[in-house]
Amino acid sequence: MKKNAVKRIGVLTSGGDAPGMNAAIRSVVRTAMKMGIECVGIRRGYAGLISGDFITMDTQSVSHIINRGGTMLYTARSSEFVTPEGQQKAVATCKLLGLDGIVGIGGDGTFRGLQDLAKHGISVVGIPGTIDNDISCTDYTIGFDTAANTAVECIDRLRDTMQSHERCSVVEVMGRHAGYLALYVAMSVGATAVIVPEEKYNFKRDVADQIRRARLGGKTNFMIVVAEGAASAVEVGEKIKKELGLDPRVTILGHIQRGGIPTAKDRVMATRMGYEAVHVLAEGRTNRVICSNDDKVFDMDIEEALAMTKTLNPEEYEVMEAMSGV
Ligand code: F6P
Repeated sequence: MKKNAVKRIGVLTSGGDAPGMNAAIRSVVRTAMKMGIECVGIRRGYAGLISGDFITMDTQSVSHIINRGGTMLYTARSSEFVTPEGQQKAVATCKLLGLDGIVGIGGDGTFRGLQDLAKHGISVVGIPGTIDNDISCTDYTIGFDTAANTAVECIDRLRDTMQSHERCSVVEVMGRHAGYLALYVAMSVGATAVIVPEEKYNFKRDVADQIRRARLGGKTNFMIVVAEGAASAVEVGEKIKKELGLDPRVTILGHIQRGGIPTAKDRVMATRMGYEAVHVLAEGRTNRVICSNDDKVFDMDIEEALAMTKTLNPEEYEVMEAMSGV
């Protein structure tokens, strides 16, 4: 795509929704408008691109959404888009709508979808939006901060009743195959122990001994945070009952973590990333992902981004270990 040739772009959200996606949509639309570029909202992710489910966006259409969780464009995980036939249909919609580029907001599945579109000559830019914060090329993904704060608030509430009854609480948090959310939340709530998929789980070492140590230190209530990708909170609870004689209560926070009013951080990051994404397309660049490291927002090649790996910050994990069992 040539510079200045960009007249019309599409924006979609795909995969699990994340608080702040609306702020990103708003930013894409308003940045485009400012630059004289028309913007079309594709509803229901790639499924909508296949079926031609779209709405014309203007400045007014994104009013009063910066403070709302979820995504005004709806989202989906499309099995049809994985097929060559599905992709052909999606490309046909892009052509029919005269789209010079697509901004896709979501996780790495969304980025892989963008790559597929790019193979058919569509210009694409991805914005990382997932509560899991599991996208390797970026330190930050939209939705993580809100989800973490929601989980912390829920666990603080649990703590009140656990303290009063001198109980043990086992809380499962989301994160799919990653433990970023669990570790961050566990540190924020001062958990007795945390179980994450990145570290091989050993019940005795990671849970039983931590509870025993905390007990010796005089504690009478215990908070165990489990990442959904590491273990089942129900099973951890059963084991605690059997091996330590406690009567734990298990809470699976589930989709509660995905909703709610986005934090200021998520709104600001989403706005900055949306702005950057449109500028990348307007400059005639494609196959890019917007990233953020050290409070800088920049773009990177999608293929390079998807080939990267990241793991838990070892320093964070070490600090958590020092805080565990006390
Ligand atoms: O990727 C976001 C996420 O919320 C994960 O943390 C979780 O494993 C998954 O989506 C749940 O997906 P669904 O909404 O399809 O149940």
